[in-house]
This record gives sequence, structure tokens and C-alpha cells, in this order.
Amino acid sequence: MAPKEIIREADELASRLRHLQYEYYVLNKPGVSDQEYDRLFDRLLLIEQTYPHLKKDDSPTQRVGSDLESSLPEVEHSIPVLSLDKGYTLEAVENWMNKTAANAGMDLSFIVEEKIDGVSIVLYYSDGRLVRAVTRGNGTVGNDVTENIRTIGSVPLRLSDDETVAVRGEIYLSKPDFEIVNENQDISYANPRNLAAGTIRRLKSREAAAIPLQMFVYEGYFEEEIHTHLKIMERLGELGFRLNERVGYFTERDVGSTVKARHPGWIFGMFSALKGYIEKEERERAGLPYEIDGLVLKVNEMAARNTLGFTGHHPRWAIAYKFESPEAETRVISIDVQVGRTGRITPVARVEPVKIGGSTVSNVTLHNQLYIDLLELAVGDSVAVSKRGDVIPAVERVIEKNEDGNTTWRMPPACPSCSGLLQPSGAHLFCTNRYCPAQVKGKINFFIGKGQMDIENLGPETIDVLFDRGLIHGIDDLYTMNFESLIGLPGFGEKKVALIRKGIEKSKEQPFRIVLPSLGIPELGRKVAELIIEGGYGDIDSLLALADNHDTESLIRIHGIGEKTAERIVRELRKPDLRKTINSLRNQGLNFVEETTGNEPVEQVCKDQVWCVTGSFDTFNPRSLAMDEVRKRGGRTVSLVSGATTHLLAGKSAGSKLTKARELGVTIVTEEEFLKLLSRP
Ligand code: IVH
Repeated sequence: MAPKEIIREADELASRLRHLQYEYYVLNKPGVSDQEYDRLFDRLLLIEQTYPHLKKDDSPTQRVGSDLESSLPEVEHSIPVLSLDKGYTLEAVENWMNKTAANAGMDLSFIVEEKIDGVSIVLYYSDGRLVRAVTRGNGTVGNDVTENIRTIGSVPLRLSDDETVAVRGEIYLSKPDFEIVNENQDISYANPRNLAAGTIRRLKSREAAAIPLQMFVYEGYFEEEIHTHLKIMERLGELGFRLNERVGYFTERDVGSTVKARHPGWIFGMFSALKGYIEKEERERAGLPYEIDGLVLKVNEMAARNTLGFTGHHPRWAIAYKFESPEAETRVISIDVQVGRTGRITPVARVEPVKIGGSTVSNVTLHNQLYIDLLELAVGDSVAVSKRGDVIPAVERVIEKNEDGNTTWRMPPACPSCSGLLQPSGAHLFCTNRYCPAQVKGKINFFIGKGQMDIENLGPETIDVLFDRGLIHGIDDLYTMNFESLIGLPGFGEKKVALIRKGIEKSKEQPFRIVLPSLGIPELGRKVAELIIEGGYGDIDSLLALADNHDTESLIRIHGIGEKTAERIVRELRKPDLRKTINSLRNQGLNFVEETTGNEPVEQVCKDQVWCVTGSFDTFNPRSLAMDEVRKRGGRTVSLVSGATTHLLAGKSAGSKLTKARELGVTIVTEEEFLKLLSRP
């Protein structure tokens, strides 16, 4: 039995962590530093390991997944999980609205949501606890994927109320996360949806936990009656679910200011504004961090939903407006292999140029042999190529096999650049010859490229010439090469050479945080470089010393750096070739020490506080300057006064927020007092 204090501590830790997870994953506003979060989390983990009976199913520690295999049992839904009728033109949508308004027998309002292109899921909560997560399946029976869904940070394991409710929503992977994760998968997926679907069907939930899935909830089925979709969404938000804020609300009459104030992210309008809204969404679609394949128009009033009812498959009170599918048919002309800077061999399909989603596609990556085998793709096949959002184009499927007798394409046995032998690692093949011209050129081009050293006046064509003429053999040669010998070569006048030289010289000014990721060390991109530098390794010598000592632990201790990354970085930093390059670059004057800004760290006097700022100020104009000061000192800022607000900074002519703050007993701070707090005169 655990001592009473421990039981209490575990309870308190669980509820604190639950709230912090909500702030982090749902509100997107971390309440404490990563270190503080880890400290609380590790403490709870330790208690649960010591006293396993204290570990509850809905403990915040249960999002990490386990290595246990579980198959995916079929379970019956207790709500009908219907799909939506579809419309493909604005006209079809307008017709549907008119028909629906006529059949409803009452005044309607419409809510327009984004149709997230992910995996549909139903979550069942009983007395506020997540008891089951089920895929849509055939609408009546789906697969139990509870253990995997538990690993998703934005899925509440426990609600803020002991409510019994079923909710529907979409599990998805953001576009940037897809790009990162897909690179490191054994099988490459064509798009974020396929990867998300594959992930929630994993048998080991630890594998699911490694993929940063997210969830938006869009329908709620409560025991008590709630009269509008709007109110249902508000209730879902209160309970702790993550909702998509990109919503349109369309009425025949102007809606009240309370509703508008409660949903600052929504767009409100009359029916006549709906068309414009749809067009706006279509324009902004590519820039969204997640994929949508249309919009969903829903009747807001539950009474009208009941009157309208269902057809066999879908409700009459909603319609999906599907965007034009960014997919096109084309033919594979040939399949080439490319050698990347890490030696990875990537097959690329050359296809007949085809317009997809506004741009012309003629090359499509095929990732690896496994991917090609899954598609059963051969040269000459007609294929469907997609381009969702701004994600790279992908072959979705073979539409028609070729009639030339070509069979499924096979990878060549040797490197196309150096004829070296290829070795498999995971699902990919690698050329292991470190002098392989394609690899070396790839490394140099990466180093000089945009987002890295960004050397002006120097591009891949010039690198080709320099390399092929034997003027450079590696990155460091750029800084020591003899430029004179270039002058006079076709396309290289004196002026051009001077410009190249200037760009290279100027690149010596790039800070360490750019130089480090430009070296092209696997797993050590810009983000990781920043973490490492902020984590206390602001110079190359301390990093090299760490590698000499095989000290992966110190790297893992930096939040955001995992075991795999740490091990790879240490392994790479021990390689003699890389060390030689680093030494030589250092001798040429590149920055291998991060300059500190000289700013003393400020005292975290606002730690754990939640500040709202209102009114106008003499010193802080605009008032966001005051909010910056709060955040710099560890505080959080919000735009509305609520029960969670601890301080209100009230400037001149502060209005309703001041009144509200007084009612709630929030600490009220004047500009003068605030300046004192900041220790500024
Ligand atoms: S409402 C009965 N809202 O689209 C109405 N669906 O064919 C339930 N989807 O299976 C669906 N975003 O996977 C609704 N904001 C949204 C949605 C959405 C994506 C998906 C969902 C559903 C399919 C409809």
C-alpha cells in the first residue's frame, strides 16, 4: 500500500499534468516550461512505477504507449456513424441550402466547417472517462483503436465534467509533421492521411505514440438535449476537446455580439456571404498546416435536424462541398534513380507533364522499392498523381497497366553515379562509397543552399563545373580553391568569378547556428541545432568532446532530442572525415562558436501567472509590448478575463474587463506598479 501522502501527490500530479496537457495540446499555449513539465511527469511516472496500483487508465503518463501487441477487435457503435452527401459545385451547395431551408419548416442558420482529410474516429466517454475509441468501419461496426488513440495529446483521457458522451472527429497528421516523419519511416506514405490511418492501426501503441497525430472534434452526442450545433461545440470545448476555430456561421439575421465575442476566430455573415466564404477557404487551403478536401455545411438547429432526418446513408441536414480533387492522370515515361547527399538511393518517376492544383508536375518521387512494389508500378503504366495542399506530388495508384510487357520496376544493383555497391538500411538502399561524386556534390549543394549557408551567386551548375574540373573535392575546398584558374572557362568571366568569391567570403559571417546544420549531419537539422545550442552546447568543441565521451545522455536530456537522434549525432561527430572538414572550415574563419546576445536572463517574476492587458498606456504602445514583458518573465497572456486569469494590467480607460476582473477577484495592476515590477524607472 502506498502512503497517504503519496496517493495524494499522485492525484495532484495527475490533475496538474492533465491541465498542462490540455493547455499544450488543445489550447496550444504551454503553461510551464518543458523542463518543469518533464519534472512533474517523471515524478508521477516514478510514483506509478513504485506503486503500480496507483496507475490509472486515464493517467497523463498513459500517452506513451506500450510494447504489448494488441489486435484490433471489432466493436459495435452505439451511435449511427453516417457519412455525408456530396456536392461538387457552388450551385449544388446553393440548391441544397434552398431545399433544406424550405423543408425545415423554420428559420435556419448554417455552420460551415473544414472537411479535414484524416481518419474518422468516434470517442466514447462514460462519466467523463475515455472508455473506447473506434474507427468508423462500416458505420455500424468499427475497430477498437483505444490504446493508440490514448497516445494522442489532444484527445482528453478525462473530461472536465463527469459527462457520458460520444464524439466524432478526425485524426490527422499536420503537413509539416508528415514531411518530417515520412522521411524516417521504413515505408513511405503517399500522404498524411494514409500515414495517420496506418498509425492508428498499429498493433504496438508505442509505435503510434512516436507519430505526432492530432485531433479535431466536430460532432457531439449528449445524453441531455442541446438545441444547437453551436452550443454543442461550446460544450465540447468546455469539456476539453480541441476544436477547429476556422468556422463560418451564416444566418438570415445578424447574430448577437455575445456569440461573436465567444468565437473570435469564426467568420459571421448573412446567407449571401456564404459563397464568398467558400471561395476564401478554397484560396487559403494550400496554406493551412493540415489537409482539407472540402467544407462541411451543417444545419445549426437540432429541431430542424430532427425534422429533416436521414436517407439510408447520410443526414439531410448536412452536405460536404468537395474541392476539386488535385489529382491527375498521366503516364510514367521512365524511372531514374537519384543519389542523395547521404548516399540514399531514391527512384524518381519521370511522367508526362501534367497540371495538378495549379502547377505542372513532371517528376514524382517513388521513395523506395517497397513503395513501388505496393503500387506494382511499371514503366509505361498510367497512374493517378496527386498533389494535396503544398505536399510533394505522389503516385496514388496505377490506373492502367502498360501494354509493352514491362513488369514491376526493380532497383539497379549498383550506384548510378559511381557504380559502387548498394547496401540496404531499413526500406532504403544506400551507396556507401564516401567519394561517390553524386554524394559529394549533394553535400556541397546542401551546404551552399537556401536555408543553409545561403551562398550568393553560387548554385548547383557552378558546383558541377568546379567538381568535375577537380577544383573542389569537398565543402572546405570552397574556401581555399584557386579562383584564378576559373576565369576564362566557358561562362566564367572575371566579373562572375569575383561575385562567386564575394558570396563565399561573405558566408564566413554566418553564425554557428547556421554553420552547424549546414554540415549536413543526419538528424542535425536547423531545429535540432538550435535545441543543442540553447541546451548549452554553443560551440563545436563542447559538442566534439561530448562525442568523444560517447555521451548521448547529455543530448537526450535536452527536451526535444530523442535517443535515436542523439545516438546518430554522436556517431557522426566521431567520423574522421567530418572532423577534418570542421577543422579546415574553422581555420578558414567560419563561426564555430555561437555569439551570445549579451542579454542577461530576466528574473521570472510572472511565472505561473496569467495576465490580461487592457486599456491604453504611456510606456507600452501598442499594448502588446506590455504582454511581451509578461511573457519574457515567464507569465502567460490571454485576451479575455476568466477564472484562470491571475492579473489584469489596467491602463487608461479600461472598461468591461476591469469590472469583470473586480468581480472575479483578479489582482489589478496599474501601469506604474507594472513598471516597478519590471524594475524599470
Ligand atoms: S460531420 C453525420 N464534419 O467527412 C455527420 N465530417 O463523409 C458526420 N469529416 O466521415 C460528419 N471533417 O470523416 C463532419 N467537420 C467535419 C468533418 C467531417 C471531416 C469527414 C468524416 C466523415 C466524412 C463524411
